[in-house]
Amino acid sequence: MTLLCDTPAAWLPQAIARFDEVLVDHAHCEKKAAAHALSLLAAFPQEPGLARAMARLAREESGHLAQVLALLEKRGLSLGRDAGDPYAQGLHKQVRQPARERLLDRLLVSALIELRSEERLSLLAAGLIDPELRQFYARLAGAEKGHGELFLRLARRAAPEAWEARLSQLARVEAKLVRELPIRPAIH
Ligand SMILES: [Fe+2]
Ligand SMILES: [Fe+2]
Repeated sequence: MTLLCDTPAAWLPQAIARFDEVLVDHAHCEKKAAAHALSLLAAFPQEPGLARAMARLAREESGHLAQVLALLEKRGLSLGRDAGDPYAQGLHKQVRQPARERLLDRLLVSALIELRSEERLSLLAAGLIDPELRQFYARLAGAEKGHGELFLRLARRAAPEAWEARLSQLARVEAKLVRELPIRPAIH
């Protein structure tokens, strides 16, 4: 699965220039990823394979969160309030309500967010100067790629007939959000 558009070229220079803000947002993203994994587990406890996968994912995302928090501390930054993420909110708005559709949509939206995060973290890995940060972001980008693939596998299993058509609809929405939302000093 590849995303339908690249991140606009203006995002990376701004992210590097205002990296402290990006780092704070990144911590909030990892926090939301961990919470979201547990919320999927809570909402669909009966779904084969999902509970264990989400428990492991929540643990891994919490690990990322702890690492980003350590970087914040090192730079004298604090987490503060979450300013919200119009990109993720725009995608979550696409989730349909009946339980089967809701499960499929939540899995596919999660996959798209993970894959976009992978792209952005890879851009940071290539664009930042500090070798430690470059390595850190390259490692995290690899993890987010794995999470994107995990969500796609779960989506395929949950709706073998419907997942592909729905994925292409949601991928179009995702690309539109990336192209149309203002660029922020944030992961998305
Ligand atoms: Fe993560
Ligand atoms: Fe992730």
